[in-house]
Amino acid sequence: MIIMCENCIKKFKIDDKFIKESGSKVRCSDCGHVFTAYRPAPVPHGEPPIKYNPQPPISTDGTAGNVISISNQKGGVAKTTTCLNLGISLALLNKRVLLIDFDVQSNLTISLGYRETTSFYEVMNSDSANLDNFIIKTKYHNLSLLPSNKNMVLLNKKYFGIQNFEFILRDRLAFIKDQFDYIVIDTPPSIGFFSINTLTSADLVIIPCECEYLSTHGVDYTLKFINLVKEKTNPRIDSKILITRYDENNTVAKLIATKLKRMYNEQTFGTFIELDDKIKESSIMRMPVIYYDKQSRSGLKYMRLAKEILEKFEREASS
Ligand SMILES: Nc1ncnc2c1ncn2[C@@H]1O[C@H](COP(=O)(O)OP(=O)(O)OP(=O)(O)O)[C@@H](O)[C@H]1O
Ligand SMILES: [Mg+2]
Repeated sequence: MIIMCENCIKKFKIDDKFIKESGSKVRCSDCGHVFTAYRPAPVPHGEPPIKYNPQPPISTDGTAGNVISISNQKGGVAKTTTCLNLGISLALLNKRVLLIDFDVQSNLTISLGYRETTSFYEVMNSDSANLDNFIIKTKYHNLSLLPSNKNMVLLNKKYFGIQNFEFILRDRLAFIKDQFDYIVIDTPPSIGFFSINTLTSADLVIIPCECEYLSTHGVDYTLKFINLVKEKTNPRIDSKILITRYDENNTVAKLIATKLKRMYNEQTFGTFIELDDKIKESSIMRMPVIYYDKQSRSGLKYMRLAKEILEKFEREASS
């Protein structure tokens, strides 16, 4: 069987007998990272591991099918909040938006008020390559959702490390890209099937980052990982850091924001998302913050971020 290091995504051949049914700790001989390797879930006799004929993705001209991944290996840095509120802001700016919940926690799905839905797991178990049957049109104008559920955990076990697993999402998105201007994907705070597939599909990665002690470590680690993906599976990937939960009255936050700007300069968005209780209140109400309070500081900042992103894509499309 083939296993893949979660840290440097190098692939190794290993005899199945060394991997226990419940998973075994292995050390990557390249980077030294220790991780748990699992046997791929058995595939019924005669059934191909991936049930469809992948096709190359369509090329986009910068006006449709732009894919944005919201990623940071650090947990709780506002990935899901950014995915939801950026998505709704792009939709309010008249863009056709698909949000993808690619995290087994299903926080994005729940934030939009859905439970007990299908997910990408059911997509992978259907005979058709078409995602249409699994996409929900939400009550918000221009906003659709490919939801998540707890079955998603099985995808990592079944597909992580098998040949060409990195391209599964990219090749599925190719079929629906022309229906959406922006596809925004929420990811889990870990490396595995979901993060590698998302980064392989993405034109732009937004890395949300809080201005806290050690927050630059998460950014560094994520950037290092993006560079590996750029080398191996997605040469066109671009990334930008978004400062979130920013408290302008906090001296440490101000210092770290200055440090981040100095370290990553052009790679940081001009827009900061401020710390705002309205975000928490809106998530209790299961709605985007701009719908909860159209004057909210964070809602207006997410609108500004959406405009900054549109300008970036339009500038690049015309150059
Ligand atoms: N600008 C903000 N102001 C105040 N609270 C915020 C803000 N942004 C996010 N939060 C809160 O921070 C918490 C973490 O946010 P969120 O769930 O979006 O993080 P995450 O990165 O998706 O977490 P995970 O890694 O677990 O998926 C939530 O309670 C959310 O309501
Ligand atoms: Mg999340």
